[in-house]
Amino acid sequence: MNRKEFVIKCASCLGLGGLALLAPGCAGTRYFSALIEGADLIIPKSEFSSLSDDGKVTQRKYVIAHNDKLEYPIYVYDVGNDSYTALWMQCTHQGTELQAFGDRLQCPAHGSEFTNYGLVQNGPADKNLRSFPVKVDGGNLRISLS
Ligand code: FES
Repeated sequence: MNRKEFVIKCASCLGLGGLALLAPGCAGTRYFSALIEGADLIIPKSEFSSLSDDGKVTQRKYVIAHNDKLEYPIYVYDVGNDSYTALWMQCTHQGTELQAFGDRLQCPAHGSEFTNYGLVQNGPADKNLRSFPVKVDGGNLRISLS
């Protein structure tokens, strides 16, 4: 599934109201356009906050950032204690764009799975995902793309 198909799938989940809760790949996923400054992708920490219907602010565990200059999006996971992982969403088997399901990434082509640290959990992929260093800079995360 490519990015466009994924967005359409999520949009259709939202259209089904409560059924979206049954689709773990859709519910709560934040997919947004991030800025690039120099060699860094900038992720506002506020992207991890979500306002629920009852007015409560909840924290997302992950967001997916994209930029037109990037061939694939980047999955950013909050592992706690102000630490984050940032992973290139390209399968290491044959290059298909991955899908995020909470704390794991799955390839729609042949079923490889990766952890939120980018480690291969199930093949046929046999290499871990490309990961990027993440620095916390005030209210932003700076993901080094170099
Ligand atoms: S391209 Fe991802 S498992 Fe084959």
